[in-house]
Amino acid sequence: MRLASRFDTIHDRTTQQSDKWAKYPADVIPMWVADMDFDAPECVKEALHKRVDEGIFGYTFPAKSLVQAIQEHCQTRYDWTPHSAHFVHLPGLVCALHLCVQALTEASARIIVPSPVYYHLTKAPLMAGRELDLIPFGLKENRWTVDLEQLAASCAKPDAQMILLCNPHNPGATVYRREELEAIHALAKQYDLLVVSDEIHCDLILNGAQHIPFASLNEDAANRTVTLMAPSKTFNLAGLAYAFAVIDNAKLRQRFNEARGALIPAPNLLALVAAEAAYREGQDWHQELLGYLYKNCEYIRQRIAGTKIKMAEHEATYLAWLDISEYKLEDPQAFFRKAGLGISEGAGFGAPDFIRLNFGCPKSQLEEAMNRILAALDSLS
Ligand SMILES: Cc1ncc(COP(=O)(O)O)c(C=O)c1O
Repeated sequence: MRLASRFDTIHDRTTQQSDKWAKYPADVIPMWVADMDFDAPECVKEALHKRVDEGIFGYTFPAKSLVQAIQEHCQTRYDWTPHSAHFVHLPGLVCALHLCVQALTEASARIIVPSPVYYHLTKAPLMAGRELDLIPFGLKENRWTVDLEQLAASCAKPDAQMILLCNPHNPGATVYRREELEAIHALAKQYDLLVVSDEIHCDLILNGAQHIPFASLNEDAANRTVTLMAPSKTFNLAGLAYAFAVIDNAKLRQRFNEARGALIPAPNLLALVAAEAAYREGQDWHQELLGYLYKNCEYIRQRIAGTKIKMAEHEATYLAWLDISEYKLEDPQAFFRKAGLGISEGAGFGAPDFIRLNFGCPKSQLEEAMNRILAALDSLS
């Protein structure tokens, strides 16, 4: 049978020490962690083979050409060229979130986080013993977005020092609009707050919205922002472990780097090679991916039409945020696990009435997953 798309190919990941596939027994389809069941772009595999063949793997610094490839990518997609001297190369983004909180805020700091959110954005302040102010997301014109009034109230508190943003937002799939980012920036400026902007999902926009790096808003925003990005979600390279920060403010960069140098290793050299190949030559693969993900997302929408599952506007990420509150499930994870499906429970992000479903997988797998979800929910009535 001829496959319509390279992304239709089913890969057996059960022999690859895949976190996603090892968590459940073979009769459960894993649709949880943000990792896609797709082969990496050919250009990445070729570059890795070439570098492996060179055979020496000593301490290695990131090539200028990697930074150039990222700059070109950001310029083309976001009309933003981060300065080459302002990059900090990292083995991942989670460690950077924690480092920002620990190195850039005082022990008494209050950290402000729109929520529900990817759990490390709330864990980072809590682990560091900081105060955490969660700002609820609400639906506005069927889009999840932050409550600006509550944000303003938190920003005005005396110990407020940092906002942790996730843009595009995981979960909730929101791409912040310029007006929203400007409103957040106005508060950050008024109360002199730092902004850490986790933009790891920025290349996964499915509805034509424009991603705007927070630091690109204006000079003041650039000066108070740590931007965190990575090729790992875009090109499915999470196991290689590479991310980068852009920190324009020299003092912040120095503080971040001092803490980083002692605690966090340099990125793996193969990750650097893969990242450069992906950013430089992975555009066709990436475009095709976006089309495929869009169709998968639309498929979910079709299948849930007429059920009591609700899904707001899905702007970005391959993670569907499904409101299952009307089913009143006591333990959604156990319920869907019994139905043969491994989902991310909303409670892990701060919203127990939701589940997050990873649709970065071949369509046939998604079809089977939706059959199982709908059959299980149907059996309740
Ligand atoms: C918003 C967000 N930030 C960070 C990460 C993880 O980043 P890393 O694997 O580079 O540590 C994820 C992974 O799902 C994520 O969704």
